[in-house]
Amino acid sequence: MSALPRVALIGCGRIGQVHARTLTSLRHLCDFAVIDDRNVQAAQVTASFLDVPRATADSEAVIADPDIDAVIIASSTETHAPYIELAASHGKDIFTEKPIALDLESTQQALAAVERAGVRLQVGFQRRFDGGYAAAKQAIEGAELGSIEMIRDAMRDPEPPPVDYIKRSGGLYRDMTVHNFDCVRWLMGEDPVELHATASTLVSDEFRKANDFDTSIVTLRFQSGALASIENSRRSGFGYDVRTEIFGSEGALMVGQSRALPVRRLSASGVLEDHQYFFLERFRDAYREELVAFLTALRDDAPVAVTGEDGRAALVLAYAAERSLRENQPVPIDLKEVSYA
Ligand SMILES: NC(=O)c1ccc[n+]([C@@H]2O[C@H](COP(=O)([O-])OP(=O)(O)OC[C@H]3O[C@@H](n4cnc5c(N)ncnc54)[C@H](O)[C@@H]3O)[C@@H](O)[C@H]2O)c1
Repeated sequence: MSALPRVALIGCGRIGQVHARTLTSLRHLCDFAVIDDRNVQAAQVTASFLDVPRATADSEAVIADPDIDAVIIASSTETHAPYIELAASHGKDIFTEKPIALDLESTQQALAAVERAGVRLQVGFQRRFDGGYAAAKQAIEGAELGSIEMIRDAMRDPEPPPVDYIKRSGGLYRDMTVHNFDCVRWLMGEDPVELHATASTLVSDEFRKANDFDTSIVTLRFQSGALASIENSRRSGFGYDVRTEIFGSEGALMVGQSRALPVRRLSASGVLEDHQYFFLERFRDAYREELVAFLTALRDDAPVAVTGEDGRAALVLAYAAERSLRENQPVPIDLKEVSYA
């Protein structure tokens, strides 16, 4: 692609605002042409604040617009698959927020459309672009830790999302643990063959009412025999908590404990450090780097770093976790299997 790709952002809610600011700062990699949101006022205010030429609420028209080369989909989850299909049918390259869809059938359909059209699709698993996780991956690939035997991955949100979000989220595994499934599979560099899930509702009755859980542990067994555990909670009293320990035959590595201010206060009552409260702060740089990677792939006519298949694999693991809970036993995993329903 010789001229800068003309980019449209679909959805400017919580994460869309982050992507909008990033795109504005990447004028050397893209021409940020349109902001679209069902809530046209949100689109207009954001476009005007960031000096983006167009704001609209007609997502279909924007996606079909021949002047647009690529779309960044950051609207609500249920819109991702239909917008991916539409964008692919118009030959656009696509970055989509996770998950691709809440069900495997729509995911398959969206991926088939992408394959047919031969366009790029990158999924928003931003952890892969975080400095800490990227360093861990490099250490693993450089065999610095020897062979990897165990990974312990924890992610806890500061507080539960709004009730309306809970109802539409697809549940803990499809909405939240998909990040962990992708991260652990990526770090391990191989696919899991067995999964066991156990979960509780300890944080809020709203999860129980939505037939969902807010507290969970999932264990995974990999082809090599390596093991992983994933812990999630929808509430962490001290703020967002993301921590990963990678244990190998020659050493271990820990990612986490992020501070906003590099200050440690020591006093008679103890030692105090600050803590990044929210995931939008913790992963601020990673959200930027994932879009830099996507736009760089467009510029260099290169493949994207996180594929639709990676997105599908994480969703298959979410399905498997739900099945393990229902059956109250470990379930075998075959990532090529289409349905775990
Ligand atoms: N990668 C991450 O860490 C991360 C973090 C937060 C959210 N997300 C994902 O991003 C997506 C959005 O989440 P959010 O927290 O920003 O939600 P949000 O509710 O704050 O924002 C969603 C926006 O999409 C708009 N919208 C809804 N339907 C639309 C449609 N049909 N067409 C155009 N716009 C539409 C809404 O008006 C809203 O402005 C979700 O899929 C979520 O899973 C990912």
